[in-house]
Amino acid sequence: MDTSQAHGDEDEQRRATRAALMASLQTCKDQACLGGSEKARKLHKSRGQLLPRERIQALLDNGSPFLEIGQLTAAGLYDGVPPGATMVTAAGLVGGRWCMLIVNDPTVKGGTMFGMTTKRHVRAQLFAWQHRLPCITMVQSGGAFLPDLENIFPDDGQGGSIMYNQVKMSSEGIVQIALVFGPSTAGGSYVPALCDEVVIVRNQGAMFLGSPQLVYAATGEVIDVEPLGGAEMHCRISGVTDHLAEDDADALAITRRIVQHLGEPPRLRWTRAAAEPPRHEPGQLNGLARCGAHAGADCREIIARLVDGSRFQEFKQLHGGTLVCGFARIEGFEVGVVAGNGELTAQAAAKGAHFIELCGQRDIALVFLADSPGFAASDRAGQGGVGKHGAKLLNAVANCDVPKLTVVTGHVHGASYHALCGRAFKPNALLMWPGARASASPDAPDHEAGALNWARQLWCDAVVEPGHTREALAQLLDIAGRVPARPTAYGAFRM
Ligand code: COA
Repeated sequence: MDTSQAHGDEDEQRRATRAALMASLQTCKDQACLGGSEKARKLHKSRGQLLPRERIQALLDNGSPFLEIGQLTAAGLYDGVPPGATMVTAAGLVGGRWCMLIVNDPTVKGGTMFGMTTKRHVRAQLFAWQHRLPCITMVQSGGAFLPDLENIFPDDGQGGSIMYNQVKMSSEGIVQIALVFGPSTAGGSYVPALCDEVVIVRNQGAMFLGSPQLVYAATGEVIDVEPLGGAEMHCRISGVTDHLAEDDADALAITRRIVQHLGEPPRLRWTRAAAEPPRHEPGQLNGLARCGAHAGADCREIIARLVDGSRFQEFKQLHGGTLVCGFARIEGFEVGVVAGNGELTAQAAAKGAHFIELCGQRDIALVFLADSPGFAASDRAGQGGVGKHGAKLLNAVANCDVPKLTVVTGHVHGASYHALCGRAFKPNALLMWPGARASASPDAPDHEAGALNWARQLWCDAVVEPGHTREALAQLLDIAGRVPARPTAYGAFRM
């Protein structure tokens, strides 16, 4: 067989792998967008209520970005629960101000919370906290999904953290607003109770620690929803809620008016240059990205399709070539790009630490493109001090206090994953391309290392199509640039 034929076959195979991958992701995303069963959605609509995504649409500005975090959470993990874990969490613009929306889906298991639902809620809160975004929670939830209590109740990062984060954010002046659309029981009622302002819908919304059925079971007392926790009662008598809405649309309109009175909106701390499309078409990234066993492109090919005018001011181009560093702009935002391009050597690690230090001094956001099989492990590498230089890189990544965005573009393994700002190094957001893999060992099977599993476990925030990455990064930079700059303090560098 001649080589051109071999390449032709490879392309065919690669296209087929990519198409299958994209199709399975799309199916998951469609299921997430649909929510509960047709019967549950019909029942919900018959009560005159909007579906969760309709509520979001009605609250956001026309044409607002919609940055969903954790769309594929728990995909396939719970029987009868579509991807998303009974909740939608997304950042978008309300009256021109970025807000975090945290929205129960009452068409799935009564909007009750599973362990992964609490994790998704907490992740959305942490994103909001880091970026000082007002949290707007749309509540209609039966509280804990009782058979999953052990994953909801005891630990940090679960249900208790939702409440803790609310009050700590509030203590830092981060706005908490709730809309109560339906019966909200137990955990579902604490969330609004801990907010600054609460809107509740007449004849629909209700808040109680135990439902009328629970009260009957516990005390034998028969009591209706309204006197126990109805909208009218909470607005007139208990004062637990602040605004009485006539229906869903009215509640959303009231909320838009609340957001108009949150004081001065935060401004960008950087000057954004005029945006310029890359000279190389970003859509070509879909074909360049790694997929299956096929090798990916040189990271400069990727960078050229992500940055304005495809201009990349490379730093130390002739040194430590397995880590590519340099300055560029994305939709006008200045960024420092740190891209894995092979096994990380001592030189590459030291160069990365040097570059990150420069970005910290200049308050330039960092974009990590993660694709590296690991740190070099040979005796030559050991004698070259890869350990101490790798430590330097980890120190710089962790401590450099500028916004950090990570995109897992390829296959990233072992400590390279951490050094390229993996989840534990707390990037402001972590995105993955559909064909990306991340794991301790390169041998991990796809059902563990693949992007779909990372999204399912909420180890990444979103799986983005390569061709849409530039847009997502620009939106994230716009959010991240609206918090005040903070000084960086590094730990001791090993020299
Ligand atoms: N734990 C586990 N499953 C629950 C649940 C809970 N706390 N609350 C509701 N569900 C399930 C129901 O079994 C049903 O499951 P199915 O779709 O597999 O049949 C589904 O959620 C929908 O519940 P249903 O009562 O049919 O819907 P609804 O819209 O009429 O009412 C609620 C929803 C939440 C108002 C109502 O189910 C309720 O009051 N639940 C009890 C809430 C409670 O007491 N929670 C205390 C938690 S600590």
